[in-house]
Amino acid sequence: MKLTARSVSRVALAATVVAATTGGVAFLVTAPASGAASTLAAAAQQSGRYFGTAVAAGRLGDSTYVNILNREFDMVTAENEMKMDATEPNQNQFSYGSGDRILNQARNQGKRVRGHALAWHAQQPGWMQRMEGSSLRQAMLNHVTQVATYYRGKIYAWDVVNEAFADGSSGARRDSNLQRSGNDWIEAAFRAARAADPGAKLCYNDYNTDDWTHAKTQGVYRMVQDFKSRGVPIDCVGLQSHFNSQSPVPSNYQTTLQNFANLGVDVQITELDIEGSGSAQADNFRRVTEACLAVARCTGITVWGIRDTDSWRAYGTPLLFDGSGNKKAAYNSTLNALNAASPTDTTTTTTTTTTTTTTTSQDPGPGGCTATASLNTWNGGFVASIRVTAGSSALNGWSVSLTLPSGTTVTNQWSANRSGNSGPVTFTNVDYNGSVAPGRSVEFGFQATGSATGLSPTCAAR
Ligand code: G3I
Repeated sequence: MKLTARSVSRVALAATVVAATTGGVAFLVTAPASGAASTLAAAAQQSGRYFGTAVAAGRLGDSTYVNILNREFDMVTAENEMKMDATEPNQNQFSYGSGDRILNQARNQGKRVRGHALAWHAQQPGWMQRMEGSSLRQAMLNHVTQVATYYRGKIYAWDVVNEAFADGSSGARRDSNLQRSGNDWIEAAFRAARAADPGAKLCYNDYNTDDWTHAKTQGVYRMVQDFKSRGVPIDCVGLQSHFNSQSPVPSNYQTTLQNFANLGVDVQITELDIEGSGSAQADNFRRVTEACLAVARCTGITVWGIRDTDSWRAYGTPLLFDGSGNKKAAYNSTLNALNAASPTDTTTTTTTTTTTTTTTSQDPGPGGCTATASLNTWNGGFVASIRVTAGSSALNGWSVSLTLPSGTTVTNQWSANRSGNSGPVTFTNVDYNGSVAPGRSVEFGFQATGSATGLSPTCAAR
């Protein structure tokens, strides 16, 4: 079914409940969830998006920090612990302890992880800083391969290359030892990452790429356009979005997000922080959130830290919680914006439409489970987030089956194993999300080309 903005809008307002029967299992098909969720993650999930934060391993012993982390966010980025200097401090000696602490904490809580960052001119270990040319190229590719292989299957998206473009008016690549190893270093890194972890989305990530008119934005855009036209494996563009009075939220921010998305990639806001306070700061967070919600392929927002005091620029109080862990006005405006997003979050173009449909099976009783699907669709594809909920007894494993309409093909999935990619498809739990306490939920997802019409997942205990 192709929905226009207007028809989706009517669906959203109607809030009808329709009972249907599919394969002997009764389903309730409800209108898009538009109620007021009370956490950032839950509010973002209503439109099939995530809301994440950067996490520092050194703060995982701080209970205030961890409580907010566990409650509010469903995506985690290691602030420093998966960078090149952290993961390969000596050449060919890899160190994953701190990265693993963050990854395991997140996954134990059912959260996904963005990997940051495989290749970057900054935070290189000393041995790499001293390298040039083909030996550097080889070392960089080895790093990408080793780290992405180690984390294979556990990372939702990798920032494969970070900050490779110059500031200013050139729109050109930044000079660095990596750039001097040859202009093709970025695509070489992406190809190595794809080979090492075919299931991870591969992103290019940068700052000062928020204003559509800026030369740097245009330079990154041309690179992504070129990569897509030549089949270089790139799935997403990350806009770091560090804002302050010198670098305010641009009025054309949504245009930038949309134009990147129109190249056929997801866009993600990857390191959001906005210096300021009170209603002005709250207004800026609202604007950024609304811009993402208005672009179907803007799949999530990550803030760069939890409390103001956790920030790399704490003096600018740029985050959503104050130093004591209290919610700021900016938190409320962000949550309200997420909650106000109807699944009609259509883009300004006529080619893309987002809708969320929730399909819920009835209470399965002891030993059973239910599956609900939340969709983020656009012309030609969609992302489905599937929530698996245990019945009145615990699950030790689950499987979710659904039948895709003809012409629809799964391209990748996360937090689940999969058999089949068209027609009947079955997803089963992975090692860390098979155990589900009575009444509790875990989530997995998949992306597909084609249409999501009539998606009716059924859940069974294994
Ligand atoms: O942990 C050491 C500590 O032992 C030592 O005493 C202290 C002395 O300087 O340094 C500590 O390490 C610091 C580390 O943050 C952890 O706090 C490093 O010096 C410091 O350089 C590092 O800064 C990080 C910065 O990236 C480095 O480039 C910030 O935490 C981190 O938030 C920041 O994140 C970047 C993104 O990766 C890319 N985009 C921009 C963003 C903000 O700069």
